[in-house]
Amino acid sequence: MVMVERQTKYFVGAVVAAALIAAALVARAQLGFDEDSLQAAGVFALLGILAHVMAYRIPRGAMGNISFVPFMSAVAVAPGLSVVISVTLAVALAEILQRRDRLKGLFNLGQYALSVSVAILVFRALGGRPIDAASLHSKVAFAAAFTSFFLVNTVCVSAVIAISTHQRLAGVLWQNTHSALIYDVIAVPAVYGFAFLYAKLGPAWSVVFAIPLFGLRHFYKTNWQLERLNEELLQIMVAAIEARDPYTSGHSQRVAEYVRIVARAAGLGTRAIERLATAALLHDVGKIHEEFAPILRKPGRLTQAEFAVMKTHSAKGAVLVGKSSQFHDLVSAIRGHHEAWDGSGYPDGLVGDKIPQWSRFIAIADTIDAMATTRPYRDALSYEVIRSEIMKESGRQFDPAICVKLLNASHWPALETAIARNALPRDVSAGAEQVEEHLHEVVAELQSTQRPQPVAL
Ligand SMILES: [Fe+2]
Repeated sequence: MVMVERQTKYFVGAVVAAALIAAALVARAQLGFDEDSLQAAGVFALLGILAHVMAYRIPRGAMGNISFVPFMSAVAVAPGLSVVISVTLAVALAEILQRRDRLKGLFNLGQYALSVSVAILVFRALGGRPIDAASLHSKVAFAAAFTSFFLVNTVCVSAVIAISTHQRLAGVLWQNTHSALIYDVIAVPAVYGFAFLYAKLGPAWSVVFAIPLFGLRHFYKTNWQLERLNEELLQIMVAAIEARDPYTSGHSQRVAEYVRIVARAAGLGTRAIERLATAALLHDVGKIHEEFAPILRKPGRLTQAEFAVMKTHSAKGAVLVGKSSQFHDLVSAIRGHHEAWDGSGYPDGLVGDKIPQWSRFIAIADTIDAMATTRPYRDALSYEVIRSEIMKESGRQFDPAICVKLLNASHWPALETAIARNALPRDVSAGAEQVEEHLHEVVAELQSTQRPQPVAL
């Protein structure tokens, strides 16, 4: 924890230093202290503060805002040091109003100043001229500046989250960009048009035009609300399945966690890993059917007939999941999660690489959780036993290529760490959860004003 905090501080320091260097380069190119530039910088800074005040809640407690609209408009109208200073002051004021702590505030100031400075430098390097009332020139330079602003901002915010939460940067980057990217692209002409209206009609009218522009906020907000709703519905569904089976509480969540580690070991891409984790979360969704309820509640051994009924859960789960257009890509993974490499599995008795690739990952993660969990009839198995079981089943139940990669010294420890965390006794794990929750809040807060567009943690 102390180590993580120190690394976070170093990173914040590096961002602030980079911001100072970038601002110095902007100052060398253009100060922008003439009356027109100062006026534009001032007007857009005020709108930026307004955008911060209108921040809205996004998934997992973080906040989003659309201050990138006025800030990037300012870059188009007056690309010089005055804009870097006004943006920094606007963010500082917003930080004070929102009473954030010093480290978070410093990070926000640093990353905004760095993003805007880099955007200005790119704009100027590509021959961009301050926008004027005559024509819409420098469009390419502005699009490139806009892209650099988002790139610097997203990388900074994702990196601080990755450092604070010990996650992989690629995964955090994906979470922070994939769903809002389309809105960012739509926003480019809107912001550029807004800057043009400012140049053509002057500050008073541009404030009037800012009102519909703030409608963009609504799009972003709705986008995040839908995403949150999806996530929550998924959690409810998983909780409903597990409520039927008293011995597997939290099983699906743990399988989703382990499958990420297995897939990472096998070198799957970030996007595939996220979809695979959703498939793992839903792998036993078929058990929600009424016919499984008495069997799942039965304390003793299952009869042959009961076992035969239970074996239909993977196919039933696949049918259920297939009813949602959001989960079409997960159907085969769920249907095949009890297939075995040697063909002895079910429901289709597929052999080797005829088994859907994602099913092979889930099968391993599913078994790992079964072995690592204490059951009424036995204790949880040790890492050594789990490891030797995976080795033994490689080529029988499991895909040998995946097993080799998972058992490799560079990936296996991650699995042991995850198992150990999940095996913590209830009271201890509650304490650990609180710590994690606290860290999560800190990161959510950190993130809340640094990212001009909303992101999820
Ligand atoms: Fe299953």
